[in-house]
Amino acid sequence: SVFDCHIIHFPKISNRAGAITPIQNKIDVPFEVKRVYYLYDIPAGESRGAHAHQILEQVIIAASGSFDVTLDDGRNKKTVQLNRPNLGIHVLPGMWRDIYNFSSGAICLVLASELYDSSEYIRDYDSFIKYKNYDGVTFSRF
Ligand code: TYD
Repeated sequence: SVFDCHIIHFPKISNRAGAITPIQNKIDVPFEVKRVYYLYDIPAGESRGAHAHQILEQVIIAASGSFDVTLDDGRNKKTVQLNRPNLGIHVLPGMWRDIYNFSSGAICLVLASELYDSSEYIRDYDSFIKYKNYDGVTFSRF
């Protein structure tokens, strides 16, 4: 459920010359990172996401600026504001996500557990609800 999607605090090493956040595979992230991508140049008022993954899990980080992430497991919703480069939200499989309220210059850094595979996306919300709640019985898998 959305309540299993926790904020992860990454290390932050600061001195008078600035800060650095190292993220080590399977140490700071609870899965094997197979892909990294980042969203940037996001026009004011735009939103991203609006899909769920059947298999992939990910960590979403505001590497610069801030934005809001709403997670929806088909039953409950949870919104977090990401606004520090050493925080991330762990998004489990089977979560509809909307990412919005991007500050100007925001960078949304994503660590993903799978290579890109468009066939494991669910891009239609009604299909997502059906997938999560087939015949009124919620799959316990998620
Ligand atoms: P999409 O997943 O819809 O982005 P968002 O959730 O941020 O709105 O992807 C946008 C486009 O980028 C789409 O045409 C697929 C392509 N894409 C790749 O080719 N590889 C990737 O790893 C990702 C994440 C997207």
